[in-house]
Amino acid sequence: MTVRDILKMGDPRLLRVAQPVTEFDTDALHTLVADMVDTMHAASGAGLAAPQIGVDLQVVIFGTDAPNPRYPDAPVVPRTVLVNPVIMPLDGGEEDGWEGCLSVPGLRGRVPRWSRIRYTGFDLYGDPLDRTVDGFHARVVQHECDHLIGRLYPTRMRDLTQLGFTEVLFPGLDAAEDD
Ligand code: NI
Repeated sequence: MTVRDILKMGDPRLLRVAQPVTEFDTDALHTLVADMVDTMHAASGAGLAAPQIGVDLQVVIFGTDAPNPRYPDAPVVPRTVLVNPVIMPLDGGEEDGWEGCLSVPGLRGRVPRWSRIRYTGFDLYGDPLDRTVDGFHARVVQHECDHLIGRLYPTRMRDLTQLGFTEVLFPGLDAAEDD
């Protein structure tokens, strides 16, 4: 269990399309997920994707069992390890919401996302996962899975006037310096 360095925007490894995991429940996969959990917690992140620590695999983690200090008003999303994910948009259109990213420290932007999605994939044991979610949960999944296709949230924005420094946009937010 190790807190790993998080790559920042500009690093070409964040732009790769990640490779699918082919073997589940291996020591290497367990170690990767443990490191990702430690790294996400150390940074108070809402989620983390393997490419953010330089690992070229389709693995994301997200969720907490308690409110996140960086997103104090957000509903709790269950702790999830999601491997080889597939996202399907459902009826409901899009909605704009604020996002930050540990690879884009200090900034927040308003990003359009599908408001309701179904996502499938596997846990780290290879057991299938199939959920239909909306709101913040749907947003987090779309944000994290974008990391697996080399997309950071600013590339999803349509109005860059809605990109700014967290400390300016949300002056009272605790731990704003951690994002
Ligand atoms: Ni991110």
